[in-house]
Amino acid sequence: MNIEIPNLTAFDEAALDSAFAQLERQARAAAAALDGEAAVDGFKLQWLGRKQGLLNEISGRWLKAAPVEAKKLLGVRFNALKAVVEALLDEALGAGPTDAALARETIDITLPGTRRLMGAEHPITRTLNEIVGVFAALGYSVGVGPEVETDYYNFESMNFPPGHPARDTQDTLVVAGQERRPQRDRLLMRTHTSPVQMRTMESQPPPVRIVIPGKVHRNDAADATHSPIFHQVEGLCVDTNITFSDLKGTLDHAMKALFGSAVKTRFFPSFFPFTEPSADVQISCIFCGGKGCRKCKNSGWIELLGCGMVDPAVFAFAAEKQPGYDPKKISGFAFGMGVERIAMMKYGISEIGSLFAGDMRFLGQFA
Ligand code: PHE
Repeated sequence: MNIEIPNLTAFDEAALDSAFAQLERQARAAAAALDGEAAVDGFKLQWLGRKQGLLNEISGRWLKAAPVEAKKLLGVRFNALKAVVEALLDEALGAGPTDAALARETIDITLPGTRRLMGAEHPITRTLNEIVGVFAALGYSVGVGPEVETDYYNFESMNFPPGHPARDTQDTLVVAGQERRPQRDRLLMRTHTSPVQMRTMESQPPPVRIVIPGKVHRNDAADATHSPIFHQVEGLCVDTNITFSDLKGTLDHAMKALFGSAVKTRFFPSFFPFTEPSADVQISCIFCGGKGCRKCKNSGWIELLGCGMVDPAVFAFAAEKQPGYDPKKISGFAFGMGVERIAMMKYGISEIGSLFAGDMRFLGQFA
């Protein structure tokens, strides 16, 4: 609001009263129209500002121009106006928003507040922790390794020689622009958690009991049960006199701990370059109890993980850094399981994709 201070020509009481009354009206009108902090600040500056405030201007122009006998009359009225302005300011500072400001207010304060949802473990994380927990209770420690891995750890040291056909079974995603490096140094997305077996053995002498949860990558077409990114839990146990019956006993116990004590296991001959002998572990169908149903394709069994006795060739690679891994003195077993598959069985999930779609309607069921 623009307010001009007129020149005072008369200094009798009536003239002073009317001049100050006019200013007081203007101050009150300005104060009544204030809405918001910025406007209140502006009012304070306009009236009380030390250099350019209206009160300062009044005292400067009117008091100075006043004849000596009028100075006291003017001073009394000036102080009264100043008190009014200060009171108006106090009121404006203390008061809430004006009616006009309230009318513009678009927040409906009667709406309920924003609820902060509690977080919950993703079913993959939960299953992964559960698997790790089963082995932690047996005295296993937990390890991790990089997802971008070298050809050496993912393949060569795991006894997949360069050009070996078993490499083709892994549908590897490779990092571009590595052609000039020696093959063993080339980077790729790890296709399994097994390279961490070698990283673990290189970093510590036997005995070893370790589980390695982690994300792995394969150039697989996505369908109801395949995803190019999935999770595994690897296990490695190395000591003197570790036998195939230790492997069987350990995995039989783990499957019962994960799926219930009624579950049975059986071991089928299989092949992995890094274990010899190798086996696929099947569990009795948790849906039909082994009678045969659609889920187990009427066989009564469900294939769940790969395992085997660590191949002496793998120990030979480890022994390059840790001579304790002498296959004549120690032996061991390893296993690897897919976390998604186990989670899908435990929670009755039929589409692997629903685990990664980030749909809260799905994930909320696990909260
Ligand atoms: N690495 C194997 C795979 O991804 C699983 C496995 C791990 C098998 C350890 C045997 C021993 O299929």
